[in-house]
Amino acid sequence: MQALILVGGEGTRLRPLTCNMPKSMVPVLNTPFLDHFFHYLAGHGVNNIVLAMGHLSRPIEEYFGDGSRFGIKLTYAVESQPMGTAGAVKNAERFLESSFLVINGDIFTDLDLTAMLDFHEKRRAIVTIALTPVEDPTAYGLIETTSGDKITRFLEKPSWDQVTTNMINAGTYILNKEVLKRIPAGVNHSFERQLFPQLLEAGEPLFAFPSNAYWMDIGTPEKYLKLHRDLMRGEIKGYQVVQGNVVKIGQNCTISPETEIIGPVFIGNNCVINRGVKILGSVVLGDGAYMGEDCIVESSILWSNVRLGSKVTLRECLVANDSLLENNVNAEKTVLGDHVTVSRYSKLGAGTLIWPTAPANPATPGKL
Ligand code: GTP
Repeated sequence: MQALILVGGEGTRLRPLTCNMPKSMVPVLNTPFLDHFFHYLAGHGVNNIVLAMGHLSRPIEEYFGDGSRFGIKLTYAVESQPMGTAGAVKNAERFLESSFLVINGDIFTDLDLTAMLDFHEKRRAIVTIALTPVEDPTAYGLIETTSGDKITRFLEKPSWDQVTTNMINAGTYILNKEVLKRIPAGVNHSFERQLFPQLLEAGEPLFAFPSNAYWMDIGTPEKYLKLHRDLMRGEIKGYQVVQGNVVKIGQNCTISPETEIIGPVFIGNNCVINRGVKILGSVVLGDGAYMGEDCIVESSILWSNVRLGSKVTLRECLVANDSLLENNVNAEKTVLGDHVTVSRYSKLGAGTLIWPTAPANPATPGKL
């Protein structure tokens, strides 16, 4: 089977992490999100993949090339302006087979795609939409069905008095290519708001594939952190990257024996961790992390080459590449972009977001 992955969104809710990095490339356990996704697809026999992209497409192409290094065939359909979810698929029409998967490129799931394809064929659907239950459906697209899983209604971001089900559109579809005829070429068009409701109105067979599979979109800092917690605690079937509270240490790291590290913790390559440091999982340190003495890092994710002075405390923080936190910085629920320097003794309270600065001159790195 073939899959088209939508990766052209701006990822505004995940800024400042996505200022320089497309959402689909943010690291998950030190590996780009899409890399995990390609493994998952390959597990269902999907290795012919079209990426529909626009915003920040270059880092994706540079990393994956034609896909052969990753055992997949990759085709890029690049939009000159954002075409919306359905418009992006229309833009890639020339690359697509008679039926194919469409998947939002910011969703981590272990949904059984093989069973979904089987369902699609047996029901002779022209569109099958995966559904997933959520606690608060008001922020999502809600889908009502008959007891036979035929879709009867779409409701985008309903108010609580309109909520009749907790099953929402999981951003994973199987489409027969004929539906692309209904999408106007060259304009922004949405599956959720336009194509699907129009097909329903026209009496076409649209089916829903309900599932209790793990499902997490990484669209916000909170969800990005939660995905890491779930992955590191081995809670996602098919992604058993760790067993229990493992501490995984990369190559060429220097770690003082006088530290306290409580898993789950993932430490990249070439990291230095000095005396008195406490790392309390779930924590991921990217390659080249440096921690001065007596730092405390808890439930946080640090990308590559992040440097902490001494006595820095981070709780539930996300720190992008090449940032520097000087001595005695204390931050909680804070998101820092690339190349940010936080001066000594700064206190960053919950919800602080700091945008990236221009890259520092690597020959003169900032002082700790
Ligand atoms: P926010 O700005 O935070 O809402 O993020 P987003 O627009 O990147 O993501 P959203 O959840 O709205 O979109 C779901 C998926 O569709 C994501 O994987 C996006 O990358 C993708 N997407 C959204 N709009 C477009 C588009 O115009 N073109 C393409 N190719 N993909 C899109």
